[in-house]
Amino acid sequence: MGPHPMLYSSLDLGPLQVVNRFAVPAMVTRLSSDDGYVNEDVIERYRRFSEGGAGLIVVEASSVHGGRSGPLLKASSDEFIPGLSELAAAIHEAGAAKAVVQIIHFLKVARSGWRQLVSDLDVDGLEALPALFAAAARRVEQAGFDGVEIHMAHAYTLSSMLSRRNKRRDHYGRTLENRLRLPSAVVDAVKAAVGPEFAVGVRFDAEECIRRGYSVAEASQFASRFAEQGVAYISLSAGGKFEDAIHREGKPLYPYTGFSGDRCMPGDSYPDAANIWMAETVRRNIRDRGFTTPILGAGKIPTADLAESLLQRGACDLIGMARGLLADPFLPVKVAAGRTDEVVECIYCNVCKSLDENFKTVVCYLWPKGATHAPRPDEPRAETGWFESESSLRAIAGVGDIRLRWEAAEGDVAGYDILRSEDDQPFERFTSCSRTAQLDDSVLADRTYRYMVVPYDGSGRRGTPTPPAEAAVETGQI
Ligand SMILES: Cc1cc2nc3c(=O)[nH]c(=O)nc-3n(C[C@H](O)[C@H](O)[C@H](O)COP(=O)(O)O)c2cc1C
Repeated sequence: MGPHPMLYSSLDLGPLQVVNRFAVPAMVTRLSSDDGYVNEDVIERYRRFSEGGAGLIVVEASSVHGGRSGPLLKASSDEFIPGLSELAAAIHEAGAAKAVVQIIHFLKVARSGWRQLVSDLDVDGLEALPALFAAAARRVEQAGFDGVEIHMAHAYTLSSMLSRRNKRRDHYGRTLENRLRLPSAVVDAVKAAVGPEFAVGVRFDAEECIRRGYSVAEASQFASRFAEQGVAYISLSAGGKFEDAIHREGKPLYPYTGFSGDRCMPGDSYPDAANIWMAETVRRNIRDRGFTTPILGAGKIPTADLAESLLQRGACDLIGMARGLLADPFLPVKVAAGRTDEVVECIYCNVCKSLDENFKTVVCYLWPKGATHAPRPDEPRAETGWFESESSLRAIAGVGDIRLRWEAAEGDVAGYDILRSEDDQPFERFTSCSRTAQLDDSVLADRTYRYMVVPYDGSGRRGTPTPPAEAAVETGQI
């Protein structure tokens, strides 16, 4: 057993067994065109996740209906089955990953900022949804996938039904049981439509992160209902709502532009594992009620070490690493091979998020320029080392903060890890960035901070660290 025994241990998700706890949560790639078919680039994206060693791959949100959506995969009619079959086969051939497809229903949005609400739908429209989801799930099963994940998170139809802001006046709104009625009916319909070996998971927000939205107490009620219905796993996300989205002139509302959007894809200013407390609370609540359904937690979990410690403390059962595995899909195999210092660590710059927002192909800022896919670990790469090997890092105390500056390293540098030590404690990763300067505004006065900076290239290979640089902010400087 290596240093990450739980992370690399298998787990049953209902009928499925995954070989490890790494999960790629659904991530829209914008690699398909508006027609919604799988193409070679889509296949290549997922093939690399599988080669890279993730145990579970959730293929991006794929629509159960024919609505216009820009570039998004579809599972809305039988014509999509051949493409989905090729995708399932490619994932299974490339590695041991189990693959499920996230299936989604969404309402209409317009460039004016208008959007359709769940309260605009008539009862017949709502009651047509379980059959739409069930038919899509059956197609995914026919295509050879291992399961589906019903998308009930963020800004989409089923999430808006669960929302505390669902003000429908009939038996589909306001009370918790009414809000659960349609999502529960979808779970039942999907489970009835597929065979017992096919996994049915759900994803919903553990907290909406909007005013008058629900939080972990209600999410725990939802989770225990879905557990009772026999879902294979529960994936917990956060936020991503229309209610606080910022409308940009001439563009449809994008639900990740407000505070709830920040919470959904926490950027570089958020702490690591920013949302894990939510998954941990829901997990504890349903365990207390006797349910053993595995829980997937996500939100800025960048490293195997952190992932292992979250599993060890029982915060979740599966580690959702979306942007981390986009930056480097090979993280699981690299860490397993003891090549952790070759991992291209996500800097949470959210360039991927803004590409998604603008319907552009989602790529990672850290990949080599112009690349559509992450480089494989064995692809040739340039040497990475320091331009000036001595004293190239300076740490300057300011008014309550410490400014770091360093000379650019030579070679094909993708980013820099910044390591920090407080008062002679061991160095720990503080953050990663792509510039040659960083402000540390999270220091306490009258303590000594030491820093080192380590460059890495597009394949994640680390160069020589700088010699340490030291600074302290005195009380008088605050
Ligand atoms: C480019 C991009 C596309 C995403 N698309 C989806 C999606 O289709 N369905 C979904 O449930 N979440 C989607 N997410 C959210 C992620 O699954 C994940 O919950 C979020 O990024 C936080 O995890 P991370 O910090 O590991 O990236 C997307 C995130 C990004 C960055």
